[in-house]
Amino acid sequence: MTDIGVGMIGHGFMGKTHSMGYRDVQLIADAEVPRPRLRTIYGRNAEKLEVARESYGWETTTTNWCTLIDDPEIQLIDNAGPNDLHVEPTIAAAKAGKHVYCEKPLGPSAADAFAMWQAAENAGVKHMCAFNYRFFPALRLARQIIQDGEIGEIYHYRSQFLVSSSLGKTRQLSWRDSKAAAGAGALGDLAAHHIDLSRYLLASDPQSVSATTRVKVTTAEDGSPVETDDQFAGLFEYGNGALGVVEASRVAGGHLVTSRIEVDGSKGSIAFSMQQLNELRVAGPDKAFRTIPVIRDGDPFQSGWFPAGHPLGWVDTFGHEAVHILGAVAGLHDVAPHGASFRDGYFCNEIIDAALRSAAGGKRVAIAYRDLVRDAAA
Ligand SMILES: NC(=O)c1ccc[n+]([C@@H]2O[C@H](COP(=O)([O-])OP(=O)(O)OC[C@H]3O[C@@H](n4cnc5c(N)ncnc54)[C@H](O)[C@@H]3O)[C@@H](O)[C@H]2O)c1
Repeated sequence: MTDIGVGMIGHGFMGKTHSMGYRDVQLIADAEVPRPRLRTIYGRNAEKLEVARESYGWETTTTNWCTLIDDPEIQLIDNAGPNDLHVEPTIAAAKAGKHVYCEKPLGPSAADAFAMWQAAENAGVKHMCAFNYRFFPALRLARQIIQDGEIGEIYHYRSQFLVSSSLGKTRQLSWRDSKAAAGAGALGDLAAHHIDLSRYLLASDPQSVSATTRVKVTTAEDGSPVETDDQFAGLFEYGNGALGVVEASRVAGGHLVTSRIEVDGSKGSIAFSMQQLNELRVAGPDKAFRTIPVIRDGDPFQSGWFPAGHPLGWVDTFGHEAVHILGAVAGLHDVAPHGASFRDGYFCNEIIDAALRSAAGGKRVAIAYRDLVRDAAA
């Protein structure tokens, strides 16, 4: 298998983690997975871009993202830019026949995400949305336990994603504060992970949502308005009858990053916290939680890394993601169900939009998902 040329948009937080993920492919992937060639990275500021190029290991830079689309040596476009910048370059890339890998949420709105899914499907390219929680070994195991029926019929999904990034005197305005650029705040940035994860773990989609959002810190340090939510709380009703409660905050004073989920069923429960990401807590009918260290021989992803017993980290999910999209491009497996396809990305955006409507209207909102084939033909 020849190398896959990659072009990347954005060199901020996710630009760095995705670059680290590609670096790890050589270390953890089977021989048949194509190796990434880090061809060109895009950004607006040539000086900062050059620093990123050198430290992240890219060959060249461009301040015009069309260069990535026009380059015949690039087969995969990795979009790690702000949410609104996901849309046009990703659609252009798909139309040019390039495979597309895009950060979450897929778009700033469901309409944008739907257009991206449609473009990728019409072009017949591989598409993956970067919901990296699907690539935590413990959550892979959790899905297996749920699917094997070990905790019975699922009644509850519960999650909290809490940070304190909106608090403090140095609060700088960011694209995350703009409705046009981000779509939503804590809901789109944080809760989106847990909403997608609920669909992955429960294999069921929310059919309705009752939500509340608040902007608690209304201005940045320079006085510019913050438009997107700092607080989100949502109650979801899933197609399989489960109830979900998802909370997200950027104003949770004592929390750097707290991200935890619980699933309760008729025969038992599962609990995961990102702060103990190599562990899964599982309780059976005896109602006693036991901690499983998910670093044993045969646990997801372990064999690619180290002998059993050596823990992995948060950033390693990006290596797992990189291996997954490159393997999909090579035809070794499909993106779904373990990776989030653009269909999954669109579904999450539809749920986010419904939650925003619910919060704005102060009432429960039914969630309708669009069908690609029917709507494309209409
Ligand atoms: N999977 C995860 O765990 C995770 C974590 C954080 C962010 N994200 C997602 O990754 C994406 C990027 O987030 P980030 O934290 O890396 O953001 P960031 O602000 O750190 O980086 C964004 C990059 O885009 C550039 N940029 C900003 N505005 C631009 C514009 N108008 N035109 C062109 N370039 C622009 C910035 O210079 C920077 O290189 C977002 O979609 C976000 O939701 C995912």
